[in-house]
Amino acid sequence: MVQDSTTRVSSCLLQELKKQKQKIIALTAYDYPTAKILDEAGVEVILVGDSLGMVVLGYETTLPVTMEEMIHHTKAVTRARKRAMVIGDLPYLSFHLSLKDSILNAARFIKEAGADGVKLEGASPQRLELVKALVEAEIPVMGHVGLTPQSVQKLGGFKVQGMDEEKAEAIFRGALELEKAGAFSVVLESIPLELAKEITDALKIPTIGIGAGPYCDGQILVINDLLGLTSGHLPRFVKKYADLTGIISRAVNDYISDVRQARYPEDQHCYHLPKGKPGLIKKLRQKTVREKYKKPD
Ligand code: KIV
Repeated sequence: MVQDSTTRVSSCLLQELKKQKQKIIALTAYDYPTAKILDEAGVEVILVGDSLGMVVLGYETTLPVTMEEMIHHTKAVTRARKRAMVIGDLPYLSFHLSLKDSILNAARFIKEAGADGVKLEGASPQRLELVKALVEAEIPVMGHVGLTPQSVQKLGGFKVQGMDEEKAEAIFRGALELEKAGAFSVVLESIPLELAKEITDALKIPTIGIGAGPYCDGQILVINDLLGLTSGHLPRFVKKYADLTGIISRAVNDYISDVRQARYPEDQHCYHLPKGKPGLIKKLRQKTVREKYKKPD
């Protein structure tokens, strides 16, 4: 398959990249300008992750994120992209109740927000049923196993998963079952690299790793972590490629001191009245004009 710079990335292209052993590049984005930069840089998959809740909206976990918030941000991302495949993340409780409601919620990402597919966490029998139903409804699905942040209570925190035989096998089985149910790809989060390699070798669909080592077919990171825009503890797997917090903070501090010291704005940042109209200022200074617009005492 020929990969050109204008054709929209599809699940078929991702599978082809896996076959050709070319790494798939994925990142999260939540807004128009960031999505535009990622798209133009050639990122194949932009995930509007429910990490939105933690890195943009200031929630402590992803659990409070709503469908409305996800749709709002996904729309901003799809307005910006030309080539990348945009995936909307189904937030907590949007796919846990009835099958019908779950399909309708997933379809909102496609119909309202212009996404190309959805991601959902977990591989329980109910989730696998849902994956089958979504695929039947023509909605491409990305699975997600390992550390699934929406199960943070059950997992006892944001911890590496699959460290013992039983749990490793459950993750392995979950990934295989997601493929069988029709998922086009699966995210492997925070698992040992040996386990990620076994899963990647066993699957025909591509694996996208985050904290799952180098053997996955692709990698994803939360863009705010990569750019150094996240405060507090960062997981071991994050590589910070920039310090935007430092850059923004220095710029804002420079602005504050320029305004306080009257160094900004300078003449180059100002507008002047046309030269031949000195009469206007004279008029504004007339007592009668001033009194007309003044607040009565
Ligand atoms: O919500 C998110 O950003 C994710 C990625 C970490 C895969 O699920």
